[in-house]
Amino acid sequence: MNETRHRVLDALADGPVSGPTLADELDISRSAVWKHVEALRDEGFEVRSDDAGYVLDSVPEFGASAVEYGLDAPFSVEYHDSIPSTNARARDLAAEGASDIVVLADEQTGGRGRLDRDWHSPSGGVWLSVLFRPDVPMAHAPVFTLASAVAVTRAAREAGVEASIKWPNDVLVRRGEEERKLVGILTEMEGEADRVSWVVVGIGVNANVDPADLPDEANPTSLSAERGEPVDRRLFTQRLLEEFDSLRQDTEQVVEAWREYATTLGQQVRVETPGGPIEGEAVDIQFPGALVIETESGTEVVSAGDCEHL
Ligand code: BTN
Repeated sequence: MNETRHRVLDALADGPVSGPTLADELDISRSAVWKHVEALRDEGFEVRSDDAGYVLDSVPEFGASAVEYGLDAPFSVEYHDSIPSTNARARDLAAEGASDIVVLADEQTGGRGRLDRDWHSPSGGVWLSVLFRPDVPMAHAPVFTLASAVAVTRAAREAGVEASIKWPNDVLVRRGEEERKLVGILTEMEGEADRVSWVVVGIGVNANVDPADLPDEANPTSLSAERGEPVDRRLFTQRLLEEFDSLRQDTEQVVEAWREYATTLGQQVRVETPGGPIEGEAVDIQFPGALVIETESGTEVVSAGDCEHL
């Protein structure tokens, strides 16, 4: 969001404020104040003018300014009603040298999942990609996938949905033996061995989506289906981004937090790795994201693969 518009919103958040006071405080003309207020109205903010001045009545449900407004994390947000893929857009922004940008969409028409699968992304979801440039070696980058799983799990729990994490990065809801997928995460990156250039963490949350509109294979669920009512996507997205921001800055805390929400640990698993399947009990996770499995023939440490709970 434009810096001055941000300051107009911050001033309105503190209560009614007159046009002349705003102009003085922001050191801009009264007509510039009016233009910023009009622009905010165009974005869906309800700003009333009464005797006391401008009054902020409501904030839009979703969108760039809605998410940036009150967000306690240093991301700017680029919003699309509809886009092929937020990850593809974030990769383009990475090529232009950008950083700390969140590409957010209501709908994706060509969403991508892991293993080059399609990711269905109808209107009502939270489909987003975070582009950033951490100062770490490539080998440490998987920790950001774990961090995003922890962040989205915490945001879902705050929204009243008991989510947990299946290694490495599926967030799901368990009901007895049944597991329903709530979130998918696709991390992409570029760099040299000793330094990451950029990371794009793509997070797809079935937020206010009817699971019947999603493909059956993933056994999907959504935040709205679990809650029995829609989730406030603005607040949910803000919590997710704030958690992610704090975890990416302190990767030491990520593995411990991941253990707290993991549903994989203690389970019999089968992981399809490039070297063949590995079966056994998942007993722990190691920085930056490898799964430790006790098999009949000893301990295996697996850094990547498709995991199935047996
Ligand atoms: C998976 O296969 O589980 C990962 C799915 C990741 C989907 C998200 S939605 C936002 C971002 N944009 C994409 O095209 N994919 C990711």
